[in-house]
Amino acid sequence: MCQENAGRNRLFGEFGLHLALWLAKHQNVRLHRLLGVTVVKDRGMRTRFTELCGIEYPIVQGGMQWVGRAELASAVSNAGGLGILTALTQPTPEALRQEIERCRDMTDKPFGVNLTILPSMNPPPYAEYRRAIIESGVTVVETAGHKPQEHVADFKANGVKVVHKCTAVRHAVSAERMGVDAISIDGFECAGHPGEDDIPGLILIPAAVDKLTIPVIASGGFGDGRGLVAALALGAEGINMGTRFCAVREAPIHENVKQLIVNNDERATNLIFRKFHNTARVAKTSVSDQVVEISAREGSEFKDIAHLVPGARGRLALESGNLDEGLIWAGMVQGLIHDIPTCKELIDRIMGEANAIIQERLSRFAALSAHQPLEA
Ligand SMILES: Cc1cc2nc3c(=O)[nH]c(=O)nc-3n(C[C@H](O)[C@H](O)[C@H](O)COP(=O)(O)O)c2cc1C
Repeated sequence: MCQENAGRNRLFGEFGLHLALWLAKHQNVRLHRLLGVTVVKDRGMRTRFTELCGIEYPIVQGGMQWVGRAELASAVSNAGGLGILTALTQPTPEALRQEIERCRDMTDKPFGVNLTILPSMNPPPYAEYRRAIIESGVTVVETAGHKPQEHVADFKANGVKVVHKCTAVRHAVSAERMGVDAISIDGFECAGHPGEDDIPGLILIPAAVDKLTIPVIASGGFGDGRGLVAALALGAEGINMGTRFCAVREAPIHENVKQLIVNNDERATNLIFRKFHNTARVAKTSVSDQVVEISAREGSEFKDIAHLVPGARGRLALESGNLDEGLIWAGMVQGLIHDIPTCKELIDRIMGEANAIIQERLSRFAALSAHQPLEA
């Protein structure tokens, strides 16, 4: 276990609480320092991850097919987070080069590119997409999916920082061995592919932190300042959000989809493709309900649902706002999403909430635990 993480985790024991209180009282050490983060001014926050990527706030917008375009990525980066373009949303590597240029015209802050590696009979030209990313001078890449080794090696050889997103501790450990710079670990709550182990973030995040030395980004189910502080308490150095960044003004998708996310509660997702060992969490809609219903029939096969699930239909739903056109990917965090702010409003709000929780609520608990009965 990494010394630093092990030490931090121990702080949450009884001894740690008393030590934190003593340090806070006698040595003027603030609770946020003991959590391993540095609060800058009123709202800023530095962690190993913000230092790695050169960003202001430990908030990442994960790669999102059809959503991760320059409008969204640049808005997240301009607001101090890490915006991420999605490589395969662009039809060709050349189109990706142009999209990276377009994003650069819209922000002078760091942004990344997601490269999702899916097993496929007819794979996209991954090596060419990778060259486009490297030759465009992108400094951070989010890799996701199967067997990233070849891509990681090339990115690292060319000085690109790699954040590998995965859903299991064993995959995170093997990515660290490959030389990635950080891990984004996706709990069972997440939109997209949560894997087949069904481990929620509350367990998965600290389990990953315990086994890794590189910074961990907590992903899946995050949408507000409470989530950010919880992630920090679990040992992570920031959060990655997908669904929350679909319901922002700059997300290049139809208002009906944003409103669906706002209207839905935490129960409004469906797990699909489990039968095919490629589980995906999507919003509950008439289309995903049909997929669930057909898949539950005895003897059903992928070909029975194939007409409902193509990416092109999902894209049409996102762009036309007709929710019956195709699958819409969204996570359980829908239950915490109640508005459609700008990226700046959202990130400012998350940082404001997080800092208030760390400096007021948590400090108060530490003081109460040592000196006062709860009812006082
Ligand atoms: C609409 C949508 C599309 C997504 N597409 C991708 C993708 O192409 N590649 C990828 O690695 N993750 C993809 N994701 C997953 C996100 O990057 C992120 O890991 C996930 O949404 C985190 O969970 P949350 O939605 O609870 O925040 C997608 C998520 C959404 C909501």
